[in-house]
Amino acid sequence: MSLDVLLGLQWGDEGKGKIVDAITNSYDIIARFQGGPNAGHTIKFDEHKHVLHTIPSGIFNKEAINVIGNGVVIDPVIFKNEIEGLKQFDFDMRDKLLISNKAHVILPTHKIIDATSEASKGKKKIGSTLKGIGPTYMDKTGRNGIRIGDLNSGNWIEKYNTLKRKHLTLLSNFNLKVNLDLDELEDDFFKSIEVLKRFNFIDSEEYLNNSLNNGKQILAEGAQGSLLDIDFGTYPFVTSCNTTVSGACSGLGVAPNKIKNVIGIFKAYTTRVGSGPFPTELVNEIGEHIRKTGNEYGATTGRDRRCGWLDLIALKYSIIINGVTELNMMKTDVLSGFKSLEVCTSYNINGIETQTLPFDLNSENIEPIFKTFKGWSEDISKVTKEEDLPIELLEYVSFIEEFVKVPIKLISVGPDRSETIYRIK
Ligand code: GDP
Ligand code: IMO
Ligand code: MG
Repeated sequence: MSLDVLLGLQWGDEGKGKIVDAITNSYDIIARFQGGPNAGHTIKFDEHKHVLHTIPSGIFNKEAINVIGNGVVIDPVIFKNEIEGLKQFDFDMRDKLLISNKAHVILPTHKIIDATSEASKGKKKIGSTLKGIGPTYMDKTGRNGIRIGDLNSGNWIEKYNTLKRKHLTLLSNFNLKVNLDLDELEDDFFKSIEVLKRFNFIDSEEYLNNSLNNGKQILAEGAQGSLLDIDFGTYPFVTSCNTTVSGACSGLGVAPNKIKNVIGIFKAYTTRVGSGPFPTELVNEIGEHIRKTGNEYGATTGRDRRCGWLDLIALKYSIIINGVTELNMMKTDVLSGFKSLEVCTSYNINGIETQTLPFDLNSENIEPIFKTFKGWSEDISKVTKEEDLPIELLEYVSFIEEFVKVPIKLISVGPDRSETIYRIK
């Protein structure tokens, strides 16, 4: 029995979906532990491309059971669309997908509050995906939320109406109105609730602990990235939950001593979507080149992702917070063709060189200090064995491993499931 945790180490979109799908055959259960449809996890195989928002990325494996854990927030409308998008695959979703009774429900008014609150911030906006994530977690911690298990009780509509009235009062305090029609949103919402209710709602903490006791292998799938964590990310430009390893314990109801491997996913460079500090950002033609070559456009919102060089200070911080035991380096193919590559190995903050992430990245004038590497010109996307990779790339890999003191066990060279190099170590 064991539980492994897979999570992102940067600002999200590291390629978590691809890897979960690629390694699901080693697990019996895949369980999403936090976040909601702000996530977009892309999976490619046999010419299929699929973006999942709420459903775990193990869904394409015939054997695995997928669990949406208590730490997740669910938008019934997006969930229904995801289910419809999977109809072309011939499997019975109701057998393969279990939902925690304790997961919280995103309501139409949560989405309106998210949009209104962001619009009211003007230039200071977080760059939220506007999926209602922040307001839903606020109601969860404020002890007002509606949970999946409530949907089967007779009086949830009463609860819904009470909460809706509260939300409308809150909205009346803003002196702006967003272009979202509550009646239309509600119509979609209530129809989608009926689809959601066809699924099995379970006490997933009990199911997962029993499964562990029965020798099952579980993979906990993270969403977002460690630098978007509510406690350890670049606050306030973060999401509203713990995206780091502790989120797997609280978001699934499993104890820390059940965790074996923590698999940290990072891109060979860095991206960020939305506002907030990004010390190694390249606001120039190199950044533009990475965006185009790496197809760096949001899987959920379609927004341009901001691009920059790999930041080893931020990466090391995430590795420590999460107790990462092995690394997977993604999108390595995107760096092919550069004469030279830069990697940030320290920050210069007001004339002082440091390898520590400052308390508030927003207010500091951070100048990244880079180490330069020789690039490679070969197209590596068809390489399947480590020994066929260019020597310059292997030097890049060794330097990172040495710097962060964690082995890189997998190198990804393309979006497809097959474009993956497993290193023997
Ligand atoms: P996630 O949110 O962490 O699952 O990542 P996303 O799916 O939002 O973004 C990752 C993007 O990179 C997707 O478009 C993937 O298809 C793509 N991708 C994943 N791994 C690789 C890779 O090694 N090379 C390239 N070129 N694309 C990749
Ligand atoms: P995956 O799982 C990248 C970002 C948003 C915004 C901030 C807050 O695909 O890696 P929110 O909607 O949570 O209120 O937005 O967090 N963000 C993500 N960025 N990948 C994600 O998920 C993200 N989920 C949220 O862009 O800056
Ligand atoms: Mg994504």
